[in-house]
Amino acid sequence: MLRLVILSVCLVHLSGAIPVVHTKFGRLQGVETSTNYAYYGVPYAAPPVGSLRWAPPQDPAQWSSVYSATSMKPGCPQYKCDDFNPPLVCPKDVSEDCLYLNIWAPLGTNSTSSLAVMVYIHGGNFVHMSGGSLLYDGSILSQKGDVIVVNVDYRLGALGFLVTGTGDVDAVGNYGILDQRHALKWVNENIKAFGGDPGRVTLFGQSAGAQSSMIHLASEESSALFHNAIIESSPFSIPYKTYAEAILLGAHLASLLNCTARDINCLRQKTSVDIVQAQFISRSKLSSLKYLEDFEPWGPWVDGITVKAEPITAMDKGFFQKKPVMIGTTSEETRMYIYQAWDKPIDTVVYTAAILASHPNHVVEIMYEYPPDEPQDQRNNLAVLATDFIFGCATRHVTREMLDYGVSDVWLYIYDHAFSFPGWGNMTFCQGHVCHGSEVPFVFQSAGRGGFKYTPDELALSDLIISYWSNFAKTGDPVGMPASGVKVVPDWPRYHAEIQAQQWPYQHFKTPKSYVDPNYNAPYCDFWDKVGYDN
Ligand SMILES: *[C@@H]1O[C@H](CO)[C@@H](O)[C@H](O)[C@H]1NC(C)=O
Ligand SMILES: *[C@@H]1O[C@H](CO)[C@@H](O)[C@H](O)[C@H]1NC(C)=O
Ligand SMILES: *[C@@H]1O[C@H](CO)[C@@H](O)[C@H](O)[C@H]1NC(C)=O
Repeated sequence: MLRLVILSVCLVHLSGAIPVVHTKFGRLQGVETSTNYAYYGVPYAAPPVGSLRWAPPQDPAQWSSVYSATSMKPGCPQYKCDDFNPPLVCPKDVSEDCLYLNIWAPLGTNSTSSLAVMVYIHGGNFVHMSGGSLLYDGSILSQKGDVIVVNVDYRLGALGFLVTGTGDVDAVGNYGILDQRHALKWVNENIKAFGGDPGRVTLFGQSAGAQSSMIHLASEESSALFHNAIIESSPFSIPYKTYAEAILLGAHLASLLNCTARDINCLRQKTSVDIVQAQFISRSKLSSLKYLEDFEPWGPWVDGITVKAEPITAMDKGFFQKKPVMIGTTSEETRMYIYQAWDKPIDTVVYTAAILASHPNHVVEIMYEYPPDEPQDQRNNLAVLATDFIFGCATRHVTREMLDYGVSDVWLYIYDHAFSFPGWGNMTFCQGHVCHGSEVPFVFQSAGRGGFKYTPDELALSDLIISYWSNFAKTGDPVGMPASGVKVVPDWPRYHAEIQAQQWPYQHFKTPKSYVDPNYNAPYCDFWDKVGYDN
């Protein structure tokens, strides 16, 4: 109650202070905070409900009064988000009417400011989370980086990715990706009025958001809408679905909802609550998927149009637009998944079985490279192996493919700091470790929104990351030229074979100090390059 009162007092106090912004679809007004102008819940597409469920995103209807962009909208429908994720990432409410974005601008920005724009795509395995969640609050990144931050919600799970066929009346999947592209188009057409420069748009995302960013990097249509990309922790070795797999998953979902496989009218009559529940059940019943797909059952499929190819194949074939890219991973990416999958120690037999399931043709070499050396529990071994294969070395491989295809503006990092505050909730196995997502509270400097405190070293690390990220957004280079309005930062050389003394330099983010290292994880990544990343 008290909070409500305070909130409404703020709104009354502020409503006159912040200018009305004119967008293509109508006028809107946001709120002024102590650091920013913020615009919450801005519609970038028509609500994807009724006949627009499983249809490509459409423009929103024009409005004539001043739209009040003063509160977050619900996230897209999802099931049991809190059970599978750390705090601060799940939406409090959900609604199928969820195609909104949030914008943060530094205080005092106006339509002539022409600031660089950073558009974030959140992670969550294509089934969870929301851009409006506290962890992704763009206010500090916007203020300290002097950039416009935009955070996008897109359709998730079966509502975003169902495939029933390829005909006119079918659900054809990849709607979540099209939503993201529609948001980028909205940014291109409207961000100038908020003080952004549509000629300097950086796409950034983590996990499923990083996979999405790679898909946009591969697409001419999306790629025209942004200029640089930051790829945080993309699980490159997890394949997207084939048509046959996507159809099977769709048919399975339909049967759980008591519909026949291609009966889209029957499926449209189900509530979004029933759909996300059925989607949740469907994931545990699929033996048809490849082993690694199990970890991401409801993502994109390779339709050859929106999604050109499997993630690694796309890179090997050079299916990507040549743009400056910053790309990296955390040092213990898969620990969270391994310890979620096995809540008790695993022995050598289970360890071997897991390797057999993912790499039936390479068990002996892999066991030789990653011997089961801890007597009681092989979970840590498995996490090291899986982190190398799915994330770290696969990312190194992708980065080298970019160089081979002539992209020279590539910067590689490893994020290697376990945060000090109790930010993992009941995922206690991640406390003191650099699990998947560890860098996110340092990119947004948003942990304070959950009541957590950074140490001085951590604050310095986060400030450094904000400087590199925002410099990159401004100039296409995390270091940049001092004259171009960038923050002064220690050098971070491009990833390149031939720089003397430091071969293959990459940024090692750490407290108390980050530094540039050579040759990331070389022997292990050389090993995986030989084994290959498709399985
Ligand atoms: C974590 O907490 C959530 C919400 O209380 C609960 O549903 C979930 O099962 C817990 N997860 C673990 C791994 O204990
Ligand atoms: C926008 O801000 C700049 C810099 O603060 C100022 O000089 C200019 O007058 C402002 N323009 C408008 C339209 O308010
Ligand atoms: C499907 O049918 C079963 C069995 O009749 C019923 O229990 C279930 O509630 C139905 N589900 C939906 C989503 O209609």
